Amino acid sequence: MSSQISVANATRKATKVAKAGRAPKATNGASTTTTSKRGDVRDLSLAAKGMSRIEWAGRSMPVLAQIRARFEKEQPLRGLRLAACLHVTTETANLALTLKAGGAQVALCASNPLSTQDESAAALVSQGVATFAIKGEDQATYYRHIAAVLNTKPQLTMDDGADLVSVLHKERRELLPTILGGTEETTTGVIRLRAMAKEGVLAYPIVAVNDALTKHLFDNRYGTGQSTIDGIIRATNRLIAGSVFVVAGYGWCGKGIAMRAAGLGAEVVVTEVDPLRAIEATLDGYRVMPMSEAAAIGDFFCTVTGNVSVIREEHFRKMKDGAIVANSGHFNVELDLEALAGIAVKRRVVRDFVEEFILKNGRHVVVLAEGRLVNLAAAEGHPSSVMDMSFANQALCAEYMARNHAALENQVYAVPKEIDENIARLKLASMGVRVDNLTPAQRRYLASWQEGT
Ligand SMILES: NC(=O)c1ccc[n+]([C@@H]2O[C@H](COP(=O)([O-])OP(=O)(O)OC[C@H]3O[C@@H](n4cnc5c(N)ncnc54)[C@H](O)[C@@H]3O)[C@@H](O)[C@H]2O)c1
Repeated sequence: MSSQISVANATRKATKVAKAGRAPKATNGASTTTTSKRGDVRDLSLAAKGMSRIEWAGRSMPVLAQIRARFEKEQPLRGLRLAACLHVTTETANLALTLKAGGAQVALCASNPLSTQDESAAALVSQGVATFAIKGEDQATYYRHIAAVLNTKPQLTMDDGADLVSVLHKERRELLPTILGGTEETTTGVIRLRAMAKEGVLAYPIVAVNDALTKHLFDNRYGTGQSTIDGIIRATNRLIAGSVFVVAGYGWCGKGIAMRAAGLGAEVVVTEVDPLRAIEATLDGYRVMPMSEAAAIGDFFCTVTGNVSVIREEHFRKMKDGAIVANSGHFNVELDLEALAGIAVKRRVVRDFVEEFILKNGRHVVVLAEGRLVNLAAAEGHPSSVMDMSFANQALCAEYMARNHAALENQVYAVPKEIDENIARLKLASMGVRVDNLTPAQRRYLASWQEGT
C-alpha cells in the first residue's frame, strides 16, 4: 500500500478529526478537506486485480474503445478538470480512463455508498485517476468524498443521481462560476435537474445522458433487468421459478426486471400509477394490481419507480412470512425502511446483503442490501456491453460540452441526435449486425405526401 494514498483507516481518522472540530465544518457530515489528492480507497494492493477486471470489462466495450483511441489522438478534453460521481465499477473505470486519455484531469467519487468495487477504485488510483470511494462507506464519508472531488475545482461534472450537482448548488456555490457544464446518467438525476432548471436555480448546462435512446432503451431495460435478478440471486441463492415476483414501476427498468423474472419462471405482478404503463404491462402478459393487494401474495418484491415510500408499513404488515424485498431504483427511499424497523421486534443480518426483520405478527420480512440498488450492491451492476453505449454517450457528451458550453443556457439538454445515432451504428458494427439502407426511392417516398392508395 502506498504511503501517499489514504486508505480506509485514514478515512476514519479524517472523519474523527472533522468531528473533533479540527477540520473545516460542513453540512451533511462532509468535510471540505481530504487527506490525499490522489484518492481515498480501501486498499491499494487490490490494484492489479482491479486492472485485470477492468481489462476484462473493456473487451466488451468496443465503442468506448474506439472513442478512447480517437481521444488519445485529438485530446478534446485537454487540461479540463472533470469531477465524476458514478458507481465505481469496472465499466466506470473504462470510462474514466477514456476521459483521461482525452486529456482530462479526472477525480471520481461513488454515487452510492454500497456500489463501489474496491479493486476498481484501487486500480484507478494506480492509473492516475484521483478516486475517493470505499464500498460500505458511511454517510459522512460518502459526502466527504463528494467534497474531495469538488475540491479539485472542476470545470465539467458527470453525475449519476445528481448528488454532485446538488452539493455544488447547496454548499459549494463558490465553485459554480468556473463550471462549464455537466452530464447526468440516470432517470432520478434528470428528474432532479429538470426541477432545478424549472425553478431557475440550475447554474450551468447539463446534458441528460439518460434520455439518449442508446442509453435508456438498453441500459435501463436489459442492464437493470439482468443485473437486478443477478443481485437478488447472488444475495439469496433462492429459486425464482414458481415464485410470485412483484415489480413496482413498469418504466424502462421495470420492463427489464419483469421480462427476466418471467424468463426464469416467476409469475410476475406489476404495480403502477401510470394508466398507460399499466395497460402495457397487462398486454405484455403480467397481472397488474395495487401494492395493497400485491403485498399479500409476493415472494419477491423489487421497486424501480424513482419514487418515495412505494412499499410502506401497511404493505410490510401484509407480507407473507419470508417475503424478500429489494430496490433497484436510484435511492433506497422507495422502501420505507424506518417504518419496517418500527414494526419489527428483532432484526438480524443472516448473510451478506440479507437482513431479516421479525415483525410483531411473527412473520419475517427480508430486505436486501439495505434497500440500496440491489444490482450494484449485491452484484456488479450492468454488464459491460450495455455500459459500452451508456458510457460512449458520457464520453461524447463531455466532449460536446467542452466544445459547445458557451452557446448553451443553464438548462437540461437532450443528447444530440447525431451522437445517439453514431453510437447505435458503431455498436451494431461491433456486433457484426448489418441493416438495410434506404433506397433513393424510399427516401423520396418517406419525405413526400402526394402518394396514397
Ligand atoms: N439499478 C440501476 O442500475 C438503475 C439503472 C437505471 C435507472 N435506475 C433508476 O431506476 C429508477 C427507475 O428508472 P426508469 O428509467 O425505469 O424510470 P421510468 O420513469 O421509465 O419508470 C418509472 C415508473 O415507475 C412508475 N411509478 C412511479 N411511482 C410509482 C408508484 N408509487 N408505484 C408504482 N409505480 C410507480 C412510473 O409511472 C413509471 O412508469 C430511477 O430511480 C432510475 O434512476 C436504476
